[in-house]
Amino acid sequence: MNPWIKVSVFVLVLVALFVWAGEVVSRASGSTRRVPLAEGTSVANGEIIFWGPGKCHTCHAVGTQGSSVRGPNLGNSPDGDQMMIRAASRARDRSATLGVELTATDYLVESLVAPGIHLVPGFKDEMPIVYRPPIHLDSDELTSVVLYLQSLGGEPDAAAITLPPDVRLSHVASSGEIPWEPYLDGDTLRGRELFFDPEGPGRCAGCHRVGGEGGDIGPELTAVAGTRTIQSIVESLVAPSASIPTGYETELIETTDGRILDGLVRRETPDSLWLTTALGDERALAVEHIARRRTQETSFMPEDLIDVLSVRELHDLIAYLRTLE
Ligand code: HEC
Ligand code: HEC
Repeated sequence: MNPWIKVSVFVLVLVALFVWAGEVVSRASGSTRRVPLAEGTSVANGEIIFWGPGKCHTCHAVGTQGSSVRGPNLGNSPDGDQMMIRAASRARDRSATLGVELTATDYLVESLVAPGIHLVPGFKDEMPIVYRPPIHLDSDELTSVVLYLQSLGGEPDAAAITLPPDVRLSHVASSGEIPWEPYLDGDTLRGRELFFDPEGPGRCAGCHRVGGEGGDIGPELTAVAGTRTIQSIVESLVAPSASIPTGYETELIETTDGRILDGLVRRETPDSLWLTTALGDERALAVEHIARRRTQETSFMPEDLIDVLSVRELHDLIAYLRTLE
C-alpha cells in the first residue's frame, strides 16, 4: 500500500477513536445534550451542534464550560481571550503570512474546513475536517457553528461567512452534477502566480503545461476552459481520482525481484516499457522483469489540494483556469 494512504488511514482511525472515546466519556458524564435543531442557521443551533453532534466538546472547552484539553479552550481562559477576539489577531498573523487579507470569520472558517493548514501553537494536527465523515456537518450546520463561535466575544454575522465549495460537494450524493458557485471573486493574476510558483502549495506547473511552459506529467491546460465545463475543472481539483482522463491512469508494477513501482506508462514495445514517476523521471523496464502490473484507480494529481490550498487560493486558481480558453 502507498505509505501516504497508510498514514491517512492511521490518522483517520485515530481521529475516529478520539471522537468515539470523547462521546463515551461525555455520555457517561451526561454532558451531551440531545436537543433537536431548529430550521435554518442560528447561534442556538451552533451551540447545540458544538455540545452535541458536532463533537467539538470532546476536544474543546469554552471558558469554564466543559473540561476537554486536546484542543484549545475557545472561551475566556488562562490560555487566551474568547474565540472571536483571538480570531481577529490570528487573522492578522495569517494575512501577513499569506499576503492576503483574511477576516476573523475567514480564520474561523479555515480552522473548521482546513484545520491542518495552520496549527495553534502547542497543539497537534488532530482536529478532524468537520464536514467530512465521521462528523460530517452540512453547510447549514457549519454556518451555525461559525455563528456560535462568532458570538464568543463578538457579534454573529452571517454575511461575513463564506464556505468553500468542497463543503457543499461533500453533501451532493452522486447526483452526477457538481454545483459550482464561486464564494469569492478569484484573482486571476494571483491564480496564475500560484500556478507557476515552484515553491507554492500547488506546484501545478511542475506537472501541467500552459502556453508552452510547465511539465508534462498531467494534461496540458492551455485550453482547459474551452474543453471542460467549470464543474469538471472544479472536480479535477477537489476529487481528482473521480474521473481520470485516458492516458493518465497510473499503473502499479511489481518486478520479478520484488520491487513495487508506480507511474504512467507512456511508451511500450513488446520487450520494454517506460514508466514516468510522479516527479517526472522516466525509467525503462524490460518486460521480462515484470511480475505483475495493474491499473490503479488513483491519479498523480494530488488528492490533498483542498487541504493545502486556502479557500481564497482555490478561487484564485479557478479564476485563472477559467481564462484558459
Ligand atoms: C479530535 C479533537 C477535535 C475535535 C473533535 C474538534 N477540534 Fe477544534 N481543534 C482541535 C485541535 C487539536 C486544535 C488545535 C490545532 C489546530 O489548530 O488545528 C483545534 C483548533 C480549533 C480552532 C482554532 C482555535 C484557535 O485558537 O485558533 C477552532 C475555532 C476549533 N478548533 C473549532 C472546533 C469546532 C467548532 C469543532 C466541532 C465542529 C471542533 N473544533 C472539533 C481538536 C479538535
Ligand atoms: C504531481 C503532478 C500534478 C500536480 C502537482 C498537479 N496536477 Fe493536475 N493533474 C495531474 C494529472 C496526472 C492529471 C490527469 C489525471 C486526473 O485528472 O486526475 C491532472 C488533471 C488536472 C486537471 C483536469 C484536466 C483535464 O483535462 O481533465 C486540472 C484542471 C488540473 N489537473 C489542474 C491542476 C492545478 C490547478 C494544479 C495545482 C494546484 C495541479 N493540477 C497540480 C497531475 C498533477
